[in-house]
Amino acid sequence: MKVAYIQTSPIFGEKEQNFNQIDDLSTDLKADLIVLPELFATGYTFKSRDEANKLAESSNGKTYQFLKSLSFKTSAIIVGGFIELLKGKIYNSSLLVFKDLIKATYQKIHLFNQEKLWFSPGKEKYRVYDINNTKIGIMICFDWIFPEATRSLALQGAEIIAHPSNLVLPYCQNAMKIRCLENRVFAVTTNRIGKESRGDNRFLFTGGSQITSYNGEVLAKAPKDEIHVEVVSIDVSNAQNKKLNDYNDLFKDRNPQLYTYE
Ligand code: ACM
Repeated sequence: MKVAYIQTSPIFGEKEQNFNQIDDLSTDLKADLIVLPELFATGYTFKSRDEANKLAESSNGKTYQFLKSLSFKTSAIIVGGFIELLKGKIYNSSLLVFKDLIKATYQKIHLFNQEKLWFSPGKEKYRVYDINNTKIGIMICFDWIFPEATRSLALQGAEIIAHPSNLVLPYCQNAMKIRCLENRVFAVTTNRIGKESRGDNRFLFTGGSQITSYNGEVLAKAPKDEIHVEVVSIDVSNAQNKKLNDYNDLFKDRNPQLYTYE
């Protein structure tokens, strides 16, 4: 199957321009799965909850409509981030869309830094979606630092983790090699580039979007400061085999009764 990232440079608050940027970058793109950055249509650095609220949408809003059209155009399952308005609260969420057949949302569980001032943390468990014979899990950006996130998805059978991101720390891309290796899953970490200086924050987003293989190998890596699109063919069945060698199966060798969780 073909998996892709579209690393963009969002303009804060300008949804239409941010949709157009992705439309232009995907003109000839055909893939089975395309991952976009976290909050790709709105930007990331809010000055107030009110500002984030004004950019929020229901899961049927403009961003969903755009992702649906992108899915029809590219024939791909699309995963990308948006501010979700749900029952009066706002979440840093991702939508998974496949044409007009499938729509799912994930509300980010582990909020980073001042995200805690604007967003409610997700309360729904990590879930895996079985679409076109591929098992896809979703996590968002800072979820990477909690090994339980990738593990929860992998234990449910995820073969690929779609990982929309707005990374500002330098660790995630290296960490994803280990997350993928220890769970024997693929991951598409899609980051953004550019700077946002708003309110108290000066963020430089670190680019380097990455497609990581089940054995920890990096299959594709974007530049740190350029818009970039990459498509990679993977054999997703490799993620079903958890054997590291003849004696070690990374899932069967786990010993949860000896682990402390709380
Ligand atoms: C992040 O979670 N956007 C760093």
